[in-house]
Amino acid sequence: MSTIPPTYRIAPSLLSADFARLGDELKAVIAGGADWIHFDVMDNHYVPNLTFGPMVCQALKPHARRADGSAVPIDVHLMVQPVDALAAAFADAGADLISFHPEASAHVHRSVQAIKAKGCQAGLVFNPATPLDVLDWTIDDIDLILIMSVNPGFGGQSFIDSALRKIEQARRRIDASGRDIRLEVDGGIKIDNIRRVADAGADTFVAGSAIFGKPDYQAVMDAMRLALKG
Ligand code: DX5
Ligand code: ZN
Repeated sequence: MSTIPPTYRIAPSLLSADFARLGDELKAVIAGGADWIHFDVMDNHYVPNLTFGPMVCQALKPHARRADGSAVPIDVHLMVQPVDALAAAFADAGADLISFHPEASAHVHRSVQAIKAKGCQAGLVFNPATPLDVLDWTIDDIDLILIMSVNPGFGGQSFIDSALRKIEQARRRIDASGRDIRLEVDGGIKIDNIRRVADAGADTFVAGSAIFGKPDYQAVMDAMRLALKG
C-alpha cells in the first residue's frame, strides 16, 4: 500500500438516474457533492443493454459544473465494441476520462493512444473474469484502472467479492509503477461496503443505485465519505 493517504472520489453513475429528467438529476447529484460524473455507455452488442451516446454527453457537458463554476469531470465508461470511433466521438462531446474494456479493442495500445491524443485521460476496464495481464504492457500509458465488481450491462447488481483481490493486485501494480493512476471500482458499491473496497486499495467509487435510489443524494454521499474516513 502507498504511504500517501488517498484522495477519494465518488462518481455517481447516471445509469440509475431518472432519464426523463437527466439534466436535473445531473445538477442534483453535483449539488450533493459528486466528484466525477460516471457515464455508462452500452451498445447492445458488447453488453446486452443500450443507453446513451455522445450527443447526450454533449448536451449535459455545460451543466457539469459546481456552484463555484468549477467543472465536474465526465468519466465515460465505454461498454462498446469496437472502441475507437465512439471514443473519439465522446472526446469531441466533452468527456474528460474515457475507459474501455480491452477485450473490445483489437489494438488496445492504439486505442489508449488515440484517447490521449484527443486530450482525454485513458482508462482500462476489467470484467470480473478478466485478468490484469494487459497492464504488463500498458500501465505506463494509462491514467485509470477500473475494476468491475459486477458484470457490465445493468445497475443494481450485487458486489462480487473476488473483485477485492483484484483491487489489491491492481493497487500493487500501480504502486510498483510509481505512476499517478486512479483505481476505480464499479458495481454494487453501497454505504456498507465502500470501506472494505477502499481498504483493498481503491480510491474512486462508482455508485448508481445506491445514490439515485435514495431521495437525498447528498446524505448518501456524506455517509459514504464518513465510512471512508472511519
Ligand atoms: C454496470 C455499470 C455501472 C452501474 C453501477 O455496467 O458500469 O456503472 O451503473 O450501478 P450500481 O451502483 O447500481 O451497481
Ligand atoms: Zn460503469
